[in-house]
Amino acid sequence: MKDKATKMMHILSAKQFDRPFLESICELTDVIRRLDKTRDGLRYLKGLLSHQRAMLYFTQPSTRTFLSFQSACHILGVASSEIRDSSTSSERKGESINDSLRTFSSYVDLIIMRTPVPGLCDEIAKLLDDTPRPVPIINAGSGPDEHPTQALLDIYTLARSFRKNGGIDGKTVLMVGDLKRGRTIRSLARLLALYKDVKMIFSSPKDFSISDDLRKHLTEKGVRFEESTEFREHLKSADAIYMTRVQDEYDIAGEQKPVNYENYHLTYDCLDIIKPEAVIMHPMPRRKEIDPRIDDDRRAKYWRQERNGMWTRVALITKVLGADKNIILPEL
Ligand code: NCD
Repeated sequence: MKDKATKMMHILSAKQFDRPFLESICELTDVIRRLDKTRDGLRYLKGLLSHQRAMLYFTQPSTRTFLSFQSACHILGVASSEIRDSSTSSERKGESINDSLRTFSSYVDLIIMRTPVPGLCDEIAKLLDDTPRPVPIINAGSGPDEHPTQALLDIYTLARSFRKNGGIDGKTVLMVGDLKRGRTIRSLARLLALYKDVKMIFSSPKDFSISDDLRKHLTEKGVRFEESTEFREHLKSADAIYMTRVQDEYDIAGEQKPVNYENYHLTYDCLDIIKPEAVIMHPMPRRKEIDPRIDDDRRAKYWRQERNGMWTRVALITKVLGADKNIILPEL
């Protein structure tokens, strides 16, 4: 994962993770959560990276990812600065994104970026690697393309939810919604493919099915998967149900056909159909994909997912900045 020449660990794509990495992130996240239980533990975490600074460059809307990364920085004592609107930076004066990001790298030790432009994080990582002061890049969402850190927190949530139930191996995961432009499922599907015997069911309106590159990848890896325009009929067999919203920010004016999305909503009566041990997930924000009355059901994990996001990002930052080896288990 580290680039040999620079020793920089960028987090750019779910493609770069292997199963040992996922397992070590999950273990580290558990240790960090235990440290969070005591004042001493928290103080210890806060001192771990207090000599480091991070820039959050988020030029696409974000609530959870931004706040959880910012909170993760605070937990580790990393001082954070932010740009959330490129019109307030010199990009407004005609500066290129590349020059702007190179400028940030002069002031910080880590750049966490969300952008509507697919592939931009990779480009910036490459650019910085060739400068005298390269800093790691974490992709916090790159257009409809990738969302590797969401996939990590989703894997952590699934692994914890299935801890007493055989883990993720062998499970059936139903992914629902705008699977064409939803970057969360694109990244998550790649990680699920690293587990044994997982079956994925992709349920979406015809025009929102998974893209060819993902289909090809899953086929090449010999992953069991099924694509369907039906939703309710798959609920019975699913161990995890991952709902997503329509990503209409990527609609091209005049080209979008009206889609009846209602058939892909998890309504209250679905609770009677799904398995008693199933988990219901959503990267959030939701619209009407999940009836809010479902929130109180013990199978609903989407609020927990949000908090898990903060802890997995704490773990990830320690890995990226090389502090993970220092983290020790608290005395029992
Ligand atoms: C997702 C995203 O931005 O891709 N949200 C998130 O990061 N938690 C999902 C979405 O916006 O639909």
